[in-house]
Amino acid sequence: MDQAEKKRRVARAVAEFIEPGIRLGVGTGSTVNFLIDEIAPLRDRISHIVASSRATEERLRAAGFEVSDLPPTGDLDLYIDGADEANKHFHLIKGGGGALTREKVLAAAARRFVCIIDDSKWVAVLGRFPLPVEIIPMAQAYVSRQLVRSRGQPILRKDFLTDNGNAILDVHNLVITNPPEMETRLNQIPGVVSVGIFAQRPADVIMIAGNSGVRRMDRNLSART
Ligand code: 5RP
Repeated sequence: MDQAEKKRRVARAVAEFIEPGIRLGVGTGSTVNFLIDEIAPLRDRISHIVASSRATEERLRAAGFEVSDLPPTGDLDLYIDGADEANKHFHLIKGGGGALTREKVLAAAARRFVCIIDDSKWVAVLGRFPLPVEIIPMAQAYVSRQLVRSRGQPILRKDFLTDNGNAILDVHNLVITNPPEMETRLNQIPGVVSVGIFAQRPADVIMIAGNSGVRRMDRNLSART
């Protein structure tokens, strides 16, 4: 089964989480694009839908949704998004599509975060995928030097600005053995807007598609075993 088919299947499987009246946050990327196709017929069940990027917002509008800002009171019930890497602690690398900052906001603002991936994204140690770091453009030289001190090789993403008007450094060759610590440390560098490690706010559920079907893993359950 090819990767696109796995993404389509995991997007279909997550429709079970769409309960009537839900306030839903929607991530960004090709897996999420399949999700939007799947939830379009469920529009009437969704009371409030928030997008993590302009690309997702446009796609949701094209599918007939009225897209909102974050609700002024109360959390989102659910945030659904893909990832570039995931490990057994439900820590993620995200930001391959450059939407990491808004994705982090929605993940933080949601009571439950369900991550949908195909099995190529599952790793023992985060870092094989270059870590996206969103930066204020004028800080590039300074932040790059700090990232080199953390043993990474930052490369400016060419011809790319985020929805927030910022740049992305993709940091190669990191071995992220302690994701919460590295997330906290890199977030402290002046000029960094956000870091694509999602460990302080990990996924609650990971749905992973492989050749034999879609497997669901719950963080609370795995903590008990
Ligand atoms: C976008 C992201 C995406 O979730 C990540 O890049 C995975 O994308 P895809 O579903 O296309 O494999 O973090 O910023």
